Amino acid sequence: MFSYRHAFHAGSHADVLKHTVLIALLRYLTEKETALTVVDTHAGAGLYRLDGDYAQTSGEAAEGIQKLTSGVAPADPLILDYLDVIGSFNKGAQKRVYPGSPFIAQALLRGHDRLKLFEMHPTDARALAGNVAQLEAGRQVTVARDDGFSSVRKLLPPPSRRGLVLCDPSYELKSDYGQVLDFVAEGLKRFATGTYAVWYPIIPRPEAHDLPRRLKTIATRAGKPWLHATLTIKRARPTIAARVDAEGGRAKRPGLTASGMFIVNPPYTLKAALQPALIEMAALLEQDKAAGYTLEAGG
Ligand SMILES: C[S@@+](CC[C@H](N)C(=O)[O-])C[C@H]1O[C@@H](n2cnc3c(N)ncnc32)[C@H](O)[C@@H]1O
Repeated sequence: MFSYRHAFHAGSHADVLKHTVLIALLRYLTEKETALTVVDTHAGAGLYRLDGDYAQTSGEAAEGIQKLTSGVAPADPLILDYLDVIGSFNKGAQKRVYPGSPFIAQALLRGHDRLKLFEMHPTDARALAGNVAQLEAGRQVTVARDDGFSSVRKLLPPPSRRGLVLCDPSYELKSDYGQVLDFVAEGLKRFATGTYAVWYPIIPRPEAHDLPRRLKTIATRAGKPWLHATLTIKRARPTIAARVDAEGGRAKRPGLTASGMFIVNPPYTLKAALQPALIEMAALLEQDKAAGYTLEAGG
């Protein structure tokens, strides 16, 4: 446990997908004046250096955000918004700092909105607390070194009855998949109108393969609409896939080639906005003919 460090993966293609969707969700949910509560069950360290050792060692940002900005310029509004938000953390054109989901969310929230962060890793929880302290955001942002799955339950429903829950585990443990399913099912019982966004890796592991199908069942049984987006940048090579499995899912995540975002109670506008964004994202990040996207909705 706790070998996963998001610093290796900051700005990867998985972050591009996850954070583009997160920003689109936040833009929509902050249109209404009523206060919004955002819960990040697996927050990470909050801020990362793309020119630091971790990112340089993994090279994942080069296949993600750096690739988006080094060739044909993106034109899709959601991708441009994503790049603008990341750019706002950087002085020049070069992206040296990469904000994780807590900092992206905080940048888009209004004064009366609330952000609740959970992070278990001792080092990352300390880094997150230190980074958040620098924001001087007062009561707007809270950080807890606690289990995101169980702690969030008592926060639902939020006082204003408007909320977004991002569930982005490291999937280091096989049990994370089951915990995600239980978490969404219970969340929908406690707070049926909340928006739930789950990120997951697409790897050759039965639990990962089953996750979206089982999330669809949970949402459908609860009578809630859902949206499911995936992004693939290259073919999964069997040797790499076997290694991923042997090393325990996303713990080291060598060669992650695809990932997905599953959203329950998405904004009704999201599917139409995401479609062209995914087309462009897949085209700009593609490394071979297996690259592509999927987008499906139901409920
Ligand atoms: C994928 S990273 C989070 C990235 C972050 N959401 C972002 O987009 O910038 C997952 C994080 O969950 C943390 N973690 C693992 N198990 C946890 C748990 N049970 N509760 C809270 N955090 C956990 C890991 O230490 C890791 O930092």
